[in-house]
Amino acid sequence: MLAGKHILLIIGGGIAAFKSLDLIRRLRERGAEVTPVITKAGQEFVTPLSASGLAANKVYTDLFDLTDEAEMGHIELSRAADLVVVAPATADLLGKMAGGLANDLASTLLMATDKRVLVAPAMNVRMWEHPACQRNVETLKGDGVLFVGPNEGAMACGEFGPGRMSEPLEIVSAVEAALMDGPLKGKHVLVTSGPTHEPIDPVRYIANRSSGAQGTALGSALAALGADVTFVTGPADVPPPDGVNVVKVQSAQEMLKAVKAALPADAAVFAAAVADWRVASASNSKIKKDAKGSLPVLKFAENPDILATVSQMKKGRPPLVVGFAAETDDVMANATAKRARKGCDWIVANDVSPETGIMGGTENAVTLISEGGADVWPRMGKDDVARQLAARIADALVQ
Ligand code: CTP
Repeated sequence: MLAGKHILLIIGGGIAAFKSLDLIRRLRERGAEVTPVITKAGQEFVTPLSASGLAANKVYTDLFDLTDEAEMGHIELSRAADLVVVAPATADLLGKMAGGLANDLASTLLMATDKRVLVAPAMNVRMWEHPACQRNVETLKGDGVLFVGPNEGAMACGEFGPGRMSEPLEIVSAVEAALMDGPLKGKHVLVTSGPTHEPIDPVRYIANRSSGAQGTALGSALAALGADVTFVTGPADVPPPDGVNVVKVQSAQEMLKAVKAALPADAAVFAAAVADWRVASASNSKIKKDAKGSLPVLKFAENPDILATVSQMKKGRPPLVVGFAAETDDVMANATAKRARKGCDWIVANDVSPETGIMGGTENAVTLISEGGADVWPRMGKDDVARQLAARIADALVQ
């Protein structure tokens, strides 16, 4: 599975480092070449000698080692690999990566690499749950860093919860998935997701009930097929998928700007529930209650239609543009008309009338409308809808 692949394995300073020795063995069993790098703290837990023996390779430990620099500079070391794996990834290493620090060999390699990075966090449960650590995780996910674990369970420190490093074979599976050449490898796919928030004043906004679940599932499914995904999301309930470039926005106008900035793309999928209207002149200060009891009147302005704008671009239109149509009445007729009006290639139509329970639920029943006609899909989980749609997109792009 991993024959000919070169893994740069950064071993951080945590008790889980002993599992990284087994990880080296498992990776090599599958044909990978492993170059270990051990941080100063990591060397308190495992020795360079054991890592070198198991890897049958040189182990790197020091940024300022003249011999290493003469043999292979740290920039080259970071790029010679197909994948950089950090296991265990301590709170300190995650913090350095998120903050862009480069004051030792491991952090410098992580800054210098142009390859994908997979991290296997391992730390005390309270450290993992600390807001600073969670902020760093969020930042790293936004940068496209891949995560495996942490798992939940009893920890060396006697506490219980998430923080245990994933087992070596779980990390091997994540390595294989990260290195797999999916059909969408090299393709850039743009996805919009979630609701938009339209400000009334600095403390109030108008929103809708979109959870972002379908868009997130789609982002995940496209990334799993190897696509380079730009995920432009409004304030959704569910966290954005792993392994995509996340761009967070609030309003429809911000979303349009982010979408334009993310182009060119090979395909663009518009799963966001964009607000059709915004408050025409949102107030810069909080609107106060009127002493005489008169009620405020909100005037609306129409928001830009992002899907229609991109579908009708004369220059730089993505070759495949996909929209969604959530309808409560005459689903097929309305969705077919919507596809023609907006000018997109495909429209994914779904019936969101209350009796279907689809809005806010985990299932979806969709019909894919294209130039060739309508394809009715059976009711299934939103994840399955996402996987099937991603497979269709791959099919269309790779012909
Ligand atoms: N959409 C968009 N920008 C908007 C409104 C909608 O990009 N300002 C996109 C959505 O992401 C979706 C598609 O257009 O892919 C259809 O959204 P929908 O809300 O069903 O259509 P509307 O254009 O809002 O039409 P209507 O509300 O009249 O049904």
